[in-house]
Amino acid sequence: MSSTLITNIGELVTNDPDAARNGQSLLGAIPDAALVIEGDQVAWTGRAVDAPQADEQYDAGGRAVLPGFVDSHSHLVFAGDRSEEFAARMTGTPYAAGGIRTTVAATRAATDEQLTSHVARLVGEMRRQGTTTVEIKSGYGLTVRDEARSLAVARQFTEETTFLGAHVVPEGDPGEYVELVTGPMLDAAKGHARWIDVFCERGAFDGDQARAVLAAGAAAGLSGRLHANQLTYGPGVRLAAELGLVAVDHCTYLADEDVEALRDSGTIATLLPGVEFSTKQPYPDARRLVDVGVRVALASDCNPGSCFTSSLPLCIALAVREMGMTPAEAVHAATYVGAQALDRDDVGALTVGKRADLIVLDAPSHVHLAYRPGVPLVAATWVGGRPVA
Ligand code: NIG
Ligand code: FE
Repeated sequence: MSSTLITNIGELVTNDPDAARNGQSLLGAIPDAALVIEGDQVAWTGRAVDAPQADEQYDAGGRAVLPGFVDSHSHLVFAGDRSEEFAARMTGTPYAAGGIRTTVAATRAATDEQLTSHVARLVGEMRRQGTTTVEIKSGYGLTVRDEARSLAVARQFTEETTFLGAHVVPEGDPGEYVELVTGPMLDAAKGHARWIDVFCERGAFDGDQARAVLAAGAAAGLSGRLHANQLTYGPGVRLAAELGLVAVDHCTYLADEDVEALRDSGTIATLLPGVEFSTKQPYPDARRLVDVGVRVALASDCNPGSCFTSSLPLCIALAVREMGMTPAEAVHAATYVGAQALDRDDVGALTVGKRADLIVLDAPSHVHLAYRPGVPLVAATWVGGRPVA
């Protein structure tokens, strides 16, 4: 097995949980560090002066090295463009869930090849910005055929695929649509998906419908996730906590009992600040969650309607500037907690045995991700010990 030494690292972010537990630093950061990769895994980390020999050597030039970002929420399988909807929002038109149907029409009309090349372009865009693991949802097909093929397209790019047939009712009777989602559509989708998700929101699906969809998904072997409390207060966050879901996403409108439910259940709150940026909604209050011990993840929610950014560096900057997170908390949320939100223990950290998914930042420390917003700081992205961007 060949080995690679990355040395002369100004700051190595390991996300070592032991360092956090010992009160040293949340990020387990090591100054003047080095890291050894064997095969596709991290084999050693420490001070550069103590580093062992390896077959190949890479000089980081004093720059920071971080775990690759784990983007636990995206909707990359779609066709069409809703930039006019965005422009209208910027002059006061509110965001509404119903806009999803515009993308559904375009997605149904696209060929598999068109959808695949579009996802490839967006995944490439993500990699250049440091994302090394991405979850991809369906949800713009909303027929048996179009949901199954959306997931088959997504599967070419990631194991973290999510069936979101319950995104919005595309046409017809809502009750009949839920039966379609929990019956034939789930049957066609389940072979291509690890997760099942529901948009639990006014204008989409209510708490009872969400519960029915998640129960059918669980019976088919899919783990549940939820879009909840994005546009209004509602039952979604408490449902996620009650069901013990690993994560519930958006969490923009939270009552005190929602926060308590998250704290008591251990369900991760995945915050998606690109959405609030792009919809002019108020940002979720990350500080309120972190201060009571709720685990917070950050993800992009890259989609053509509410948020068309693929950039986790942007999300980190927004979380620090607008949501009360420290730079360390935001980086941890976009890496370590993002991995937890996908129930993954092989990524999200650079400790011995983890997959060598990392980014080299054109900066001396992780703080620059928030300090230098909008600047393309990711100089290189490695997946499984090899550069991919
Ligand atoms: O996560 N909330 C539901 N789904 C997407 C938006 C989809 C759209 O507007 O096309 C979201 O924000
Ligand atoms: Fe979403």
